[in-house]
Amino acid sequence: MAETAEWSALSALAAANRRHDPRASLNDPERCARLVVDACGLRIDFTRQLYDLPTLDLLLALARTQGVVGTVENTLRGGQVNATEGRAALHTALRIPPGGSLVVDGVDVAADVHAELDRMSAFCDEVRSGNWRGHNGVPVKAIVNIGIGGSNLGPKMAVEGLRPFVDESLDMRFVSNVDPADLDRALKGLDPQTTLFVVCSKSFTTLETMTNAAAAREWVIAGHGGDSTAVSSHMVAVSTARDQVADFGIDPATGMFGFWEWVGGRYSVGSAIGLSLMLAIGPTGFREFLAGMREMDEHFRTAPADHNLPILLALTWLWNGSIFAHDSVAVLPYSSDLHLFPSYLQQLDMESNGKRVRADGTPVGVHTGPVVWGEAGTDGQHAFHQLLHQGTRVVPCDLIGFAKSIAPDQQARQDLLMANLVAQAEALSVGRTEAEAASLEDGEDLASHRTFPGGKPVTVILAQQLDPMTLGKLVALYEHKVLVEAAIWGTNPFDQWGVELGKEMADVIVPELHGSSKDAHDASTSALIDAVRALRSN
Ligand code: F6P
Repeated sequence: MAETAEWSALSALAAANRRHDPRASLNDPERCARLVVDACGLRIDFTRQLYDLPTLDLLLALARTQGVVGTVENTLRGGQVNATEGRAALHTALRIPPGGSLVVDGVDVAADVHAELDRMSAFCDEVRSGNWRGHNGVPVKAIVNIGIGGSNLGPKMAVEGLRPFVDESLDMRFVSNVDPADLDRALKGLDPQTTLFVVCSKSFTTLETMTNAAAAREWVIAGHGGDSTAVSSHMVAVSTARDQVADFGIDPATGMFGFWEWVGGRYSVGSAIGLSLMLAIGPTGFREFLAGMREMDEHFRTAPADHNLPILLALTWLWNGSIFAHDSVAVLPYSSDLHLFPSYLQQLDMESNGKRVRADGTPVGVHTGPVVWGEAGTDGQHAFHQLLHQGTRVVPCDLIGFAKSIAPDQQARQDLLMANLVAQAEALSVGRTEAEAASLEDGEDLASHRTFPGGKPVTVILAQQLDPMTLGKLVALYEHKVLVEAAIWGTNPFDQWGVELGKEMADVIVPELHGSSKDAHDASTSALIDAVRALRSN
């Protein structure tokens, strides 16, 4: 990519855009008209980004030259875009409407998707209505989702994000970490006779999940006086690995919900991995969530590039990250319920776009995905926004807000929240000049301290309210953003080889902590293992 004419021109333009005057550009009607895009019930405002319209045109040209359209089409039709794992990446098929069809290698994947959705719906209806009984005939009161990475972050983020839509009679809990404290905390106050575990793991081999699932099984059996037949009434599995589920002791025919190799972990919240979400918000709510994703999929597939939300968001991130080399992006949802959205995006974005080589194995040659972080507003304003406004580093921000409260009697407080979002957008971009600071009361002495440089790159994503459809749209928006960036860099956003090495090494080190002889480690690592051994046995 770095060798294209568009890239050279963009790099040259970066210097000019560095001198970008937000106060002028935010009042430029032509620029504002092009850089505010309303689609799919979202209004995305790119006017506070540091590019002018010719620069945006070049970014769009770069997307064309890099074959974004072809990559997107190939992905959506089920091509083997995840070449290193020999798989398609067809999470969009999870959102195909009822009656739709997508035939890949002779199989109508849409029919399979809907058959599984129907099974999930029937199961969730049973649990939610109290018809599903525990081993001793008592209805379920608590759901504990056991999973990690994509088998945890998506459902957990969405259950929290959609709190007003969650059935309050179900106590929803999530366990991911192999740290025993995580399961202990989740089980606190729960009764094994009224608890249902949803064990989510695509592979059904992940160390953390299988360790926690085994401990949960023991807890169920102990809570039923040692009766292991209780397990089938208190544990279900979500996986692609039928044999492993059966080996664990869950009957795949009755206690397993499936999905497919072509659904990557971090793209799986719309699959059976979303079972806990469906239990929480009900099958209708879950289908609305899918419908929101589908609306964004359709928009992504059909809207012209200069009006296409995921493409414009991708080009914005690429401009800030690959051309300006800003190291991170802060994602700041002005919604307490959506506080886990940044962590969810961390996996989606950093596992997908944290790549150094292209799909053909050659170095990318430019910066790829940034560090993604963030926190709900307004909490972040009282923690790290100082650095965003006046620090020496530039941190591009995505501000996400919802104009209307789900609860009408809370609208006044929602307005306070939104006023803060707008104020942050304005302060970050317009800032306050030294002259303005000096003119404040007692301003002379502290003028430099009270100056805000402004000119920070900000995108504002606005929706009417945070409901299942809107959340589905937001998730799909970022999924597609990730794909567009990867298409431009030529990287594979669907594999994650970078997480393997640590796992392999941990497997070697586990027995070494117990005193078995040690593998050949460097001296410092060897001393670290000795230190842990000594501390654990003293
Ligand atoms: O951390 C690597 C990873 O493979 C993620 O991509 C995945 O979401 C997570 O582990 C969990 O995997 P599984 O669902 O197979 O347990």
